[in-house]
Amino acid sequence: SPSMSLDAYIAGLPKAELHLHIEGSLEPELMFELAQRNGVAIPFDSVEAVRAAYDFSNLQDFLDIYYAGANVLLTRRDFEDLAFAYFRRAAADNVRHAEIFFDPQTHTDRGVPFEVVVEGLVAGMDRAKAELGVTSGLILSFLRHLSEEAAFATLEAATPYLDHFVGVGLDSSEVGHPPSKFARVFAAAGELGLKLCAHAGEEGPPAYVREALDLLHIDRMDHGNRSMEDEALIQRLAASQMTLTVCPLSNLKLCVVKDLKDHPVPEMLRRGLHVTLNSDDPAYFGGYVNENYRQLAQAVGLTREQVTLLARNSFEGSFLAEADKAARIAEVEAWAARSA
Ligand code: ADE
Ligand code: ZN
Repeated sequence: SPSMSLDAYIAGLPKAELHLHIEGSLEPELMFELAQRNGVAIPFDSVEAVRAAYDFSNLQDFLDIYYAGANVLLTRRDFEDLAFAYFRRAAADNVRHAEIFFDPQTHTDRGVPFEVVVEGLVAGMDRAKAELGVTSGLILSFLRHLSEEAAFATLEAATPYLDHFVGVGLDSSEVGHPPSKFARVFAAAGELGLKLCAHAGEEGPPAYVREALDLLHIDRMDHGNRSMEDEALIQRLAASQMTLTVCPLSNLKLCVVKDLKDHPVPEMLRRGLHVTLNSDDPAYFGGYVNENYRQLAQAVGLTREQVTLLARNSFEGSFLAEADKAARIAEVEAWAARSA
């Protein structure tokens, strides 16, 4: 009904999540449980102490803690539990489909076999579909602070498991590690039939966004905030309807924006960019997808129509088959019509 609050409208809206690092969904409670189960020491006495440490002034600050947290993940069951915990939380937010990143190098560099990671995550994804009705895809993300050679070795390790991946991504420390460093790896991944995503313009300049487009030939851009500094780039992104997976609470916690009131999403929408809202690393940034919609809507004054557009964009920008996209978008329209 028209009297429904915007928060209730957001809660009931079917959504896809397209920018979620599964390691970034490791809640402190599960971190403690896995530390105990695996006999791994963590440098915190309590869940409260972990949460208190989540105070970041930039991307690298966060990454240092995020990679340390991942040390508790060792077995197939750990990765399955991690993934299923995310999907349960996402389902509560009416996320119907999620395309999730994982960072294989974070695990293989600690001696955890590639197949343990993949089989565990896939088990969690299969359970999510069976028990929660949430569909998903897995995106293998290369750590850009490591070498091109290491990325090629990771792609090689992934080759027996290609059926489990919808695409590749590029994440970790952006400044100093431009997309050009991975042009050949992305070309090889594209030839294997994988979709191509890259983080660009989170902390890095508009030139990195251009490289992601021109040298990596990406299908989807993660973040993209700093594109807004470059008029020609804005026009190009609008004309191509490139999907941007924007993450408001991440941007706030990593000081990409000073205040949510300064967030670029309203300007992106005004300029006709194909924007989606996502949670990035929700265990570290204080909110899952609905909280990202709600807090942004509150801070910048999004309308119900804009919120609906963001949800429609999330399915359009997904790597689902066209018929599945259409079915999900019909559910978005049905919710909008019912709530009108
Ligand atoms: N890894 C996990 N979250 C990330 C982010 N927001 N940017 C870069 N690398 C990441
Ligand atoms: Zn990210």
